[in-house]
Amino acid sequence: MLFRDIKSKHFFVFLIVTYVVSAIHGALNIFKRPLDSLDIKYGSFPEDLRLQMLAEAKKMFYFGYDSYMAYAFPMDELNPLLCCGRGPDYENPANVNINDILGDYCLTLVDSLDTLAVLGNATEFQNAVTNVIQTVSFDKDNVVQVFEVNIRVLGALISAHVLMMDPEQPFGNLRPSWYDEFGLLSRLLGDPVYEGYARRANKVLWNLRAKSTGLLGNVIDVESGRWIGRLSGLGAGLDSFFEYLLKSYIMFGESEDYRMFEEAYRVIKQYMRRGVYHLKNKGGKRLIPECQYHICNIQLILDRHPVHYVQVLHGDIEEAICTHALYYSIWKQYGVLPERWNWQRLSADVTFYPLRPELVESTYLLYQATKNPFYLHVGMDILQSLNNFTRAECGYATVHSVLDKSLEDRMESFFLSETCKYLYLLFDKDNYVNKHFSKYVFSTEGHLFPVDTQFRSKVWEEKTVVADPGLVQSSGNLSCDAVDAERTYFLPIKSHYLLQISETLGLENY
Ligand SMILES: *[C@@H]1O[C@H](CO)[C@@H](O)[C@H](O)[C@H]1NC(C)=O
Ligand SMILES: *[C@@H]1O[C@H](CO)[C@@H](O)[C@H](O)[C@H]1NC(C)=O
Ligand SMILES: *[C@@H]1O[C@H](CO)[C@@H](O)[C@H](O)[C@H]1NC(C)=O
Repeated sequence: MLFRDIKSKHFFVFLIVTYVVSAIHGALNIFKRPLDSLDIKYGSFPEDLRLQMLAEAKKMFYFGYDSYMAYAFPMDELNPLLCCGRGPDYENPANVNINDILGDYCLTLVDSLDTLAVLGNATEFQNAVTNVIQTVSFDKDNVVQVFEVNIRVLGALISAHVLMMDPEQPFGNLRPSWYDEFGLLSRLLGDPVYEGYARRANKVLWNLRAKSTGLLGNVIDVESGRWIGRLSGLGAGLDSFFEYLLKSYIMFGESEDYRMFEEAYRVIKQYMRRGVYHLKNKGGKRLIPECQYHICNIQLILDRHPVHYVQVLHGDIEEAICTHALYYSIWKQYGVLPERWNWQRLSADVTFYPLRPELVESTYLLYQATKNPFYLHVGMDILQSLNNFTRAECGYATVHSVLDKSLEDRMESFFLSETCKYLYLLFDKDNYVNKHFSKYVFSTEGHLFPVDTQFRSKVWEEKTVVADPGLVQSSGNLSCDAVDAERTYFLPIKSHYLLQISETLGLENY
């Protein structure tokens, strides 16, 4: 009896194995093509390697963070070569490279707060909040750039506050025992003044878009309302504008924001050079990325509204996959990404790399969208080249020239708040954020904001129930369900396109 039992179990196992094997075989047959060497190389990512990379990403953050606290705090930034702090350039007020951003407000610490939460270090988060409250003062005679301070300082503080106040405490108890709730800005304060100004400025900009194309320039004279920079694109100077139209809609549920986003997105698609089409034209050097310079924020392309969910998301993922593959190839060409790359000369125009997060961010988001192991390989490559080329005496350093990998003595705050955070999240598949991906929006500086109906009603109006609360949960739902199975089983982009890109860039192997 016992014997028969065991036998039937074996038989049962055998049946399962046979079933699984034939199911896989069947699935592969659907696509009617054999796996090639790139499919095999990128087709899987061992679990122990993922854990090792997770540990590496964590180590990277703590090396930068601990060094900042040891050598630079309470100054704004860490100089990772000389192991000291950096503050505003008081001697040369015209030094905008420094003074736009640094305002003597412990920038790096403030910007890192929510990364500590994402890494699950509630104790250090509490210490950091205590340090911020005891040390940071805005009552200083510094001229700073509104945009940078908004995204790096205000955004960080609001994000930290909202995470602390989450009654579910998904990242542990982030609240120091003495911390008392204090409201922040418009919807938190119940004062419409801040949002009112922001919307007015947005409206004015929107109305100044070119009549013939509907496109916006990238620099405007705020006194005369005339465009100074007439280049349009998805790169620096413009990316966050589009990003915020959509994110503002997701956060606050204002349908006007979404209408503006849709219109902006439509004209961008109409007028801008794009990747996929040209990639399909085999001959010649017509490898044209979506944006002319700087780095696209592919989250903009991914974060689509669920109304056109399957079609648009699918279409846009194709494009995001292609653009990302091009940027990754450029990364491989240099080992890091040059600040500006010229697609006609196929070489770097502006050659520094300040540890920017965009490629890691896109890699993370595409992984969330496709679960394709290709993106874990990309993340590992990025992580290793950051360690190989930018790790310095105490922290990570800006690459002065991607050509010779010379370094500059600067670690910008977004390295800890974004680059490290996205790398960590890429490999931490069980992270609360990944398991509740549709519950959060990442700001343009990578700060985490819960999407919450609380913020979708204005306290200064009659409290009305938002008309379409269903959107909140489904927006940002980039589950694999929306992506066809071929995306998960094979390379996200066909091998011959990858080879085409790498041949054009003169890469030896992919
Ligand atoms: C939290 O951060 C502090 C400061 O970097 C570190 O000493 C500590 O080991 C971290 N804790 C965990 C659990 O990682
Ligand atoms: C980083 O350096 C190691 C050791 O020298 C090397 O094996 C690896 O290929 C390098 N990786 C990258 C991405 O540069
Ligand atoms: C995401 O969307 C799919 C398809 O609409 C749905 O089945 C799934 O439950 C959603 N997941 C979440 C986390 O909302």
